[in-house]
Amino acid sequence: MNTLTKEQAAARISQLSRELDEHNRLYYIEAAPVISDFEFDALLKELETLEKEHPELRLPDSPTLRVGGGITKEFQTVKHRYPMLSLSNTYNEEELEEFDARVRKLLGDEPFEYVCELKYDGVAIGLHYKDGLLQQALTRGDGVQGDDITTNAKTIRSIPLRLNSGKNAIPFPADFEIRGEVYMPHKSFNRINQEKAAAGEALLANPRNSTAGTLKMQDSAVVASRQLDCFLYFVLGENLPYKTHFESLEAARSWGFKVPDFTELVSGLDGVKAFIAKWDVERRNLDFDTDGVVIKVNSYAQQQTLGFTAKSPRWAIAYKFKAERVSTKLNEITYQVGRTGAITPVANLTPVLLAGTTVKRASLHNADIIEKLDLHEGDYVFVEKGGEIIPKIIGVDLPKRTAGSAKLLYTAVCPECGTALERKEGEALHYCPNDAGCPPQLVGKIAHFVGRRAMNIESLGEETIEQFFRNGLIRNYADLYDLKKEQLLPLERMAEKSAQNIIDGIAGSVKIPFERVLFAIGIRHIGETTAKKLAQGLHTMERIRTATREELLEVPEVGEIIADSIIAFFASPENILLVDRLKAAGLQMELSEEQLTSKTEKLKGLTFVVSGVFNRSRDEMKNLIEQNGGKSSGSVSGKTAYLVAGENMGPEKRAKAEKLGVKIISEEDLLQLIAAGE
Ligand code: IVH
Repeated sequence: MNTLTKEQAAARISQLSRELDEHNRLYYIEAAPVISDFEFDALLKELETLEKEHPELRLPDSPTLRVGGGITKEFQTVKHRYPMLSLSNTYNEEELEEFDARVRKLLGDEPFEYVCELKYDGVAIGLHYKDGLLQQALTRGDGVQGDDITTNAKTIRSIPLRLNSGKNAIPFPADFEIRGEVYMPHKSFNRINQEKAAAGEALLANPRNSTAGTLKMQDSAVVASRQLDCFLYFVLGENLPYKTHFESLEAARSWGFKVPDFTELVSGLDGVKAFIAKWDVERRNLDFDTDGVVIKVNSYAQQQTLGFTAKSPRWAIAYKFKAERVSTKLNEITYQVGRTGAITPVANLTPVLLAGTTVKRASLHNADIIEKLDLHEGDYVFVEKGGEIIPKIIGVDLPKRTAGSAKLLYTAVCPECGTALERKEGEALHYCPNDAGCPPQLVGKIAHFVGRRAMNIESLGEETIEQFFRNGLIRNYADLYDLKKEQLLPLERMAEKSAQNIIDGIAGSVKIPFERVLFAIGIRHIGETTAKKLAQGLHTMERIRTATREELLEVPEVGEIIADSIIAFFASPENILLVDRLKAAGLQMELSEEQLTSKTEKLKGLTFVVSGVFNRSRDEMKNLIEQNGGKSSGSVSGKTAYLVAGENMGPEKRAKAEKLGVKIISEEDLLQLIAAGE
C-alpha cells in the first residue's frame, strides 16, 4: 500500500508524467532511448498505481492514456475548422513540368523554392492543440467533416499529448491545427500478421487498410496494441509566425512532432526530379509505405498568391511513383483448401522478377475477381506490386492472347475431394462442405489442434500429421490420443526416439488448460480471445455445449455469428463424439479450481450492492465481486460505487441509488467491468 500524502502523490504523478513524456519522445521521435523498456514499464506501472489510488489527480494528458482502454461506442462527426483538401496527382515528368510552368507563371517569374516530402501512404489526420495540449483528433472524412478519433489517436506514442516547451523548443502558437498521416509500420504489420497466422485468423491485407480499420476500432486498448505511428506535414492556424512551410515544419519538430528529416528544400524542377529519382529507389528500404512525393511551394506569401482550386491547393502537387508491373504467362489456376474448407484460387505464373523479388504465384482471391479479369487459357497477365505486400494480377496482356483460347472457369468441385463447392448468399468465398472427409480440411484441423497456441504438441509437425493421415493412423484430433508407439515405428524416417517424443507430447497435452482446448477443437470464428471469454463466462464444455443462443450472447465479445457457429458445431453428432473422446482421454473440460477461485484486484476499492434476480445465484454474484477485489454490501449508501440491478429489484434501493447518484448497472455491465479491468 502506498503511504504518500495527497500532496506527495500529486507531485509524484506530475513528475512521473513528465518523465515518461520525455522517454516517449526520446524513444518514438528521436529513436534514442536512454532507459530500458523494463525501466520504462516500471515507471509507467508506478504512475498507473498512483492514478488508481487517486483518480482525481490523473493529468488530462497522462502518459497512461497511451495504453488505451477507453471505448468509443460511436464516433462523433465534427466539422473541420479548415477544410481538409487533397492534392492533384501527376504521374510523369511532363505533368510535373506543366505544374512548374504554372507556378512560375502565376508568381510572375519571382524566385521561389520547393519543399519535397514523401507521400506517406496511410490515413490523414488533423490534430487540434490549445495551449500545448492535444484537444481533438479528426479523420479526413469527406474533407468538410470527419470523425472524432481522439481516444484512439492518444494511443499513438509519437503524437504528443503535451507539446515540448523545453529550452530548445521554438514557442508554439496558443491555438493551431497540425495535419499528418497515421500509418502502420511494416514491423507492426508483419508482427500482427504472424500472430494472426498462428491463430488461424484472416490476415491483414495491407498496412494502409489496416491503419484505417484500426483507427475506427471501438476499443482503444486494441488500437494501442497495433503500434501505429504518425508523420506530420502541415501546420495551420491564424497569423502563424512563420514565413515558410519549411520553417513551420522545423518548429513542429521542436515541439515534439515526428516530422521526417528526409524532407528537403530544393530550388527548381531539377532538384525535384533528383529527389524523386533518389526516393523511387530508397523507398524500398523504409519501414513504411510511400506511394509518391509531395512538392510544395515553400513561401507562405507565395502560397497565398497561388491560392486554391475547388479541390486542392495550386501551390502543391503529388507525384505518384509507378507501381512496378511486368507481363508473364499464367500457367494454371490451382485451388487451396483451408482447414475451414475455404477455397483460395492461386495463379501459377512463369517466374518473373518484380521489384527485387521473384514472383511465381499470386492470389486471385475469389470467383468474382477471376470473372472480372476474364482469364483465358494461355493468357499473359500483368502483375503489379503496389502498396500491397503480395503481388496482384491487374489485367490481361491482351495482344498476347491466342485467338480462340478458352475462357478459364472457376472450379465447381473441390480439387482435393471432388465435392461440389458451395457459396453462401452474399459471401465472396466458395467452401468445400465436406468437412468430415476432405483431406486438407482434416489435416488442417489436426494441425490447428496441435498448434503452439492450442495444445502445443511440439513434437508433432504438419508433415508428420500428413504422414500419419496418409497411412491411415489418424483422421481427426481425437485419434491422436489412441496412437501407440508400435504403430509409428514402421513409418518412414521414424526413429524410436522421435516416436517416443510424439507419444509423450500427446500424453502431456492433457494438462493444457480448458480455454486452449476450447480454442483447439476448431469451432469456426472462435479465436484465442473468444475462447478465453467463453471459458470465463461459462466455465465448462458441457455448459457451452448446452447453452442457448441467448446465454451465449451474454458472454462478453460473443456476437450472433459466434453464437450461431457454436450451436452449429455442437449440432453435429460427429463433433460431440470427438469432444467426448477428448474428455475420455483426460483433457481439461472445465476451468480449474485455481482459475475459478483466482483472485484479481480489478474491483479494488469499489463497493457493490446486489439486488434482484440474476442469471447467477445471489451468492455467485457476491463471490464474483469479492474474487475480483470488490466489496459487497446489503444497503445503498454514499459509499456505494454501483448498484447491480437484477429483475424485480426493490424499488426503495433504486430510489435511494438515484437520489445519491449511485450508478445502476446490469449483471452484464458488471462482467464487462471485470473484463475491462477498470
Ligand atoms: S499535404 C493541402 N503532405 O495525401 C495539402 N499530404 O491527396 C494537404 N499525404 O490527404 C496535404 N503525405 O493524406 C501532404 N507529405 C504530405 C503527404 C500528404 C501523404 C496525403 C494526405 C492528403 C493526400 C493528398
